Amino acid sequence: MLAIVANRDDITAMRDFIASAKAAFQNKIETLGYDPFGLLQHVAEMEKWGNYLCDRHPQADRHTVLLAVWLHDIGHYPLPAEIDHAVRSEQTAKELLDGEEYPANEIPAVLHCVRAHRCKDVLPETLEAKIVARADSASHMTDDMYINIARDDKAAKHAFRAYDKMERDYRDLAAFPEVKKLLTPLYRAWQRVITEYERVNL
Ligand SMILES: [Fe+2]
Ligand SMILES: [Fe+2]
Repeated sequence: MLAIVANRDDITAMRDFIASAKAAFQNKIETLGYDPFGLLQHVAEMEKWGNYLCDRHPQADRHTVLLAVWLHDIGHYPLPAEIDHAVRSEQTAKELLDGEEYPANEIPAVLHCVRAHRCKDVLPETLEAKIVARADSASHMTDDMYINIARDDKAAKHAFRAYDKMERDYRDLAAFPEVKKLLTPLYRAWQRVITEYERVNL
């Protein structure tokens, strides 16, 4: 259950609300009893990038960003998911936010961040949505997502998806050139690691 927020300017209440969104996300996974995509670790890493980008773009609404961070992947589970998880996450986020006293006029901004975080069929239009989408991409580079995808594909004898994922993430980071520049050596290192990992067959 999310916390009640009566006033958008009530900073303490907004912090409580973000903490409650985090709890809602964590509780969902704990209730389901599985987390094969490692989302608990992923979103914690993404929150760091959300704060990093908000620190450098103070005109962004940090509350909107952090709420969207904790809700953006909430629609991934349960598996199998036939619907795009960005669509399911938006639906779930709307239900959560509508069900509480979160300021109604602030909800669309959060939902847009959630829906557009994949930079796919819906592109980020607001600064907050651009931050959320790129925090997602950047967090993949500073976490173990690519090697986990590669490990799963090797076990299933699939073509490696990690390359496409890396390319999309690196491409999308262009929205924040300073972050792209910071992460370029790591991106090149991941390319090398995944290539070498694929080359070894046991
Ligand atoms: Fe996602
Ligand atoms: Fe994500």
